[in-house]
Amino acid sequence: MSEGPATTAGQVLRLLLRGNGERSGQDMAQRLGISRAAVAKVVTSLRAQGLEIEAAPRRGYRLVSEPPLLLPAMVEARLAPGSLGLPLIHFDEIDSTNLEARRQAEAGAPHGACLVAEHQSAGRGRLDRRWQAPKGSALLFSLILRPSLGLRRVFALNNLISLAVCRALQKHGGVDAAIKWPNDVYLEGKKLAGVLTEFTSRAEAVEYAVVGVGLNVNQDAQWLAGLDQPAMSLAAATGHAWNRATLLAQILGEMSALHEEFMAGGGEELAREYARRSLILGLEVTVREGQAVRRGKAVGFAPEGALLLEEEGGKVSPIHHGDVSLLDWEVLA
Ligand code: BTN
Repeated sequence: MSEGPATTAGQVLRLLLRGNGERSGQDMAQRLGISRAAVAKVVTSLRAQGLEIEAAPRRGYRLVSEPPLLLPAMVEARLAPGSLGLPLIHFDEIDSTNLEARRQAEAGAPHGACLVAEHQSAGRGRLDRRWQAPKGSALLFSLILRPSLGLRRVFALNNLISLAVCRALQKHGGVDAAIKWPNDVYLEGKKLAGVLTEFTSRAEAVEYAVVGVGLNVNQDAQWLAGLDQPAMSLAAATGHAWNRATLLAQILGEMSALHEEFMAGGGEELAREYARRSLILGLEVTVREGQAVRRGKAVGFAPEGALLLEEEGGKVSPIHHGDVSLLDWEVLA
């Protein structure tokens, strides 16, 4: 993990945001240990990316507006110190952030790197489904993690990221979302976000994992209605547009805290929190694991992320991955 924003642009923007949008070049130069000319150069580059920054003689710089994009400086400026998410790599267009994250992980990208796109031409969902969103409307990102985890616990990453999304929405947006194990986030009974976690392993240990998240943010109700499954967006649910850069920084902050807690042995407490957020706890469900289909009652979650399924005869077994449908209420993604 890295301390604070990685780039000088992120640091300058952070200082402007902390100063209620205003700060002198002299003050920023001193705080960052760079020259005033270097600050001016960063301001020029931020303007070139679409940020409106005024310069007033003697008063310094004033941030007037930011573009509705996920520019690295805009996310970095809002990241909590030590948070996952750095380096932050932004694409206007990419095939899939998960595919690109795998390519970059193979080439040595570090733990915590985050790839984010305004649009994906081949966005991928679970079970070979497609994942679509109009350009600039959603949060589409993939986080590269290199945790010291055995294969039995790797599926917990799904639970952690869905909890991170729920925590961020609740803490910062007052939105109460729920999770359909293993990793779909639901709002008002409709799918709000999906997670696609992929990993490679060596000698029974995870080499790297790519945790990909597609979160419907500013899509309107008309676009959502054209999808082949009931879907919700934050804007449709709350009636206002959301700042995606702020939300991404908040989710990454929550994911960092959860990942740390999990790696430090906090799986039991996290499983309890996950259960409180679960859509399926206590319900009769069908779980498909490849060709196998099992039926039973969802009675809890294990610290390593598995669903605890009580089958006929009362035997409870952990299910590490699969797709769940509820017997009377089909909400399969
Ligand atoms: C699902 O619910 O089926 C999972 C959807 C995951 C979609 C995200 S969008 C960002 C990342 N890149 C991809 O190609 N897929 C994931």
